[in-house]
Amino acid sequence: MTRPDPHDSIHDRTTHRMTRENNTMKSHGGDGPDLTAFGRDFVWGVATSAYQIEGAVDEDGRLPSIWDTFSRVPGATDGGDTGDVACDHYHRWQEDVDLIKQLGVDAYRLSIAWPRVVPTGSGAVNAKGLAFYDRLVDALLEAGIRPFVTLYHWDLPQALQDEGGWPRRDTAYRFADYAAAVAGALGDRVTDWTTLNEPLCSSWIGHLEGAMAPGLKDLEAAVRTSYHLHLGHGLATQAIRAVATKTPSVGIVNNLSPIEPATDSDADRAAALRMDGHVNRWWLDPILGRGYPEDMVQVYGVDLPIQDGDLETIAQPLDYLGLNYYFRQIVADDPQGPAPYARQVPVPGATTTAMGWEVNADGLEQLLLRLTREYSAERIYVTENGSAWDDKVTADGTVEDPERAAYLEDHLAACARAVRQGAPLAGYFAWSLMDNFEWAYGYAKRFGLIHVDYETQVRTIKASGHRYAELIRAGKDLHMG
Ligand code: FCB
Repeated sequence: MTRPDPHDSIHDRTTHRMTRENNTMKSHGGDGPDLTAFGRDFVWGVATSAYQIEGAVDEDGRLPSIWDTFSRVPGATDGGDTGDVACDHYHRWQEDVDLIKQLGVDAYRLSIAWPRVVPTGSGAVNAKGLAFYDRLVDALLEAGIRPFVTLYHWDLPQALQDEGGWPRRDTAYRFADYAAAVAGALGDRVTDWTTLNEPLCSSWIGHLEGAMAPGLKDLEAAVRTSYHLHLGHGLATQAIRAVATKTPSVGIVNNLSPIEPATDSDADRAAALRMDGHVNRWWLDPILGRGYPEDMVQVYGVDLPIQDGDLETIAQPLDYLGLNYYFRQIVADDPQGPAPYARQVPVPGATTTAMGWEVNADGLEQLLLRLTREYSAERIYVTENGSAWDDKVTADGTVEDPERAAYLEDHLAACARAVRQGAPLAGYFAWSLMDNFEWAYGYAKRFGLIHVDYETQVRTIKASGHRYAELIRAGKDLHMG
């Protein structure tokens, strides 16, 4: 697939009308996504997470999470940015539901802030915190938008961190209690549940690399964290199924990357295998009933705190797998580096986003096929995929972001190719609905289909957002009548 010329007009709506005969949307010189690959029930969505958009960190009984704490550590985030205000979604949620509706999506993937619902992490439920999500869910349903609710998108209540956090087994049980409280309150309306978002990031980036909350660099803590997150996932899955009154669909969201060795040397090939274990297999094998990959247990050299019955709990049958995809990794041996003693190296000549991440749509196709063939996935959602660019509002108030639109189309085309080869892909969620607090990168990195002016909180649908709406409409038109 050739890269589009970013200067091409990609949103000339009149020339891209979709017909049954001409069902491939041509938009930027290359082939657009073959929308006929996606069935009538395909779920088109957008995604966000609580701490990245809500703000209002000390309102209505919310107490700090590890991200409130971490973002205040000098140097931890770009420019010292925090989620204190973010997109002020806690106050502007109605306007945001309206924008979601304008995009024409079927579904909205949001996360619930544990520190709002159970502010101290265990014990009493904060009715005001829960009421926010109750209203939001009702408004979404009213607008015809299906809420996909994630229970943990990295915002552990600080009180639980103070008691030991995820390296401590008890946290998994507290997570299940919180999951039961939320599913008990919303499970009469919400059907789509995700336990964890990207446990890799909580574990490896938060506890091993120290670049995300809670900012530790401790291999043993990181491995224990991964284990207790998995245990929490299994327990929460059981809890949701026990209390939700509408039959729930429960899954987990992992961020995966295709891994390739930088050279053909034995050392680099072995490094690639270790990185594959670190990034992919560690996150899939246990939850799908295969146990922890033995080679990686050796690489980490940390005893897993397994108790009787845990592996069965961790491997609850799931209704779907969520895949977040951003980039592939080319890796080289790195014997002096941290586990897994392999490091990602730059790809010469690669197109990269504002994050410095290589644009590689084929990687998404590869991962979807791997989940299908190697892991026998029966239902997959792409729960996040998107790109950051240096967007500017033009004098006439529009945001022209051809790179993001091209990225979106190329990745949807990759999804369509995977579907044609048998991947049971049930939906796609663009990251993100709107620009937001990009963790350690602060507000400098913009992933939104909607631009947010953080001074005024004015939202502007970017050209890519209009393009996404147009693709969705075209996809739906195929199934009309
Ligand atoms: C993912 C996160 C999401 C966002 C995107 C860019 O790792 O799940 O919150 O930060 O990356």
